[in-house]
Amino acid sequence: MEALLKQIEHKYRSLREDPETYLKGLLHMRPLTYWDYIQVDALLSLQHPRTNFPDEMVFIVYHQVTELILKLVRHELDQLTRGPLPEASVFEEKLHRLVRYTRLLTTSFSVMNQGMRCEEYSQFRLALAPASGFQSAQFRYVELQCTPLEHLIPPQRRAEVRPDMTIEEKFQLIYWQDAGYDRQTRMKTLTLQQFEERYLDSFYALARRMEKDNLYLRYLALAQQGKDTEALRSALRLFDYTFNVSWPLVHLQAAHTYLGSGHEQTAATGGSPWEKYLHPKHQKRIFFPSLWNEEERQKWGEVELQA
Ligand code: HEM
Repeated sequence: MEALLKQIEHKYRSLREDPETYLKGLLHMRPLTYWDYIQVDALLSLQHPRTNFPDEMVFIVYHQVTELILKLVRHELDQLTRGPLPEASVFEEKLHRLVRYTRLLTTSFSVMNQGMRCEEYSQFRLALAPASGFQSAQFRYVELQCTPLEHLIPPQRRAEVRPDMTIEEKFQLIYWQDAGYDRQTRMKTLTLQQFEERYLDSFYALARRMEKDNLYLRYLALAQQGKDTEALRSALRLFDYTFNVSWPLVHLQAAHTYLGSGHEQTAATGGSPWEKYLHPKHQKRIFFPSLWNEEERQKWGEVELQA
């Protein structure tokens, strides 16, 4: 105990603070509870359905669960893309975490795919227009942290990229612009307009910060130092595949369940030509292209690949 008190005294004296004040504070502090620490009441008060259909609650909570898991993904990405280049072992450990979190997203998606009544979904979704999961900024932040902006431009439009293009100009070619483009009016949909108004500046700022430090470039830097390993490459491939193929496919399956397919298709709340847009074989979003061979890149999203 004496040694501990000395350490506490040393800690506050080196901050030029009076240790006694802090010890007295400790004396009066309430013991911590689970509900205060985890903020349970705040968390459980964040669900506000817009209709009386009970399944709307499932829809809201599961979106919130997704956002929390994406927060974990970004938390690891932040550590990998800031500061000095991490050691290969740290890189690998964090990649395994990223894979685990992304698998949580794919394996739990049955809560959406099978967990709601189609009749309820088709009613309450009408009260949600023009909001869409498309407006989830965290998905976009993850993409910008993982790979150069050029890789988020669909292959068929990459020839339009010029070396002198600004980040702002490149964003006009990014793959998700396609989902927010109304082919009849040839204007941006309200879903896209509102999304850009709210987030575009933060996307530009992140893209600028990630220009030299995104995950892919950091991995290439590590490889250049001869520090990449088979285990690291395989973890990167697994993360790429889970985030960019497995998740889009389970998500597309939900869209088919609730919005139909082919001629029977219903318009989505975001109004996109969703069936084509959402398929990974059209988006061809690949974070770490050099880790896949030509054939694998060609067949991205079409056949199951060994990740
Ligand atoms: C019944 C469940 C769901 C259906 C039917 C559905 C349907 C759709 C549709 C049709 C789109 C295309 C954009 C539009 O026009 O709205 C879309 C986009 C999107 N949704 Fe969902 N969605 C569901 C659940 C979710 C969940 C739980 C999330 C998690 C946050 C989510 C995240 C997204 C994202 C990130 C996009 C954009 C995808 C991209 O740009 O590649 N969706 N969704």
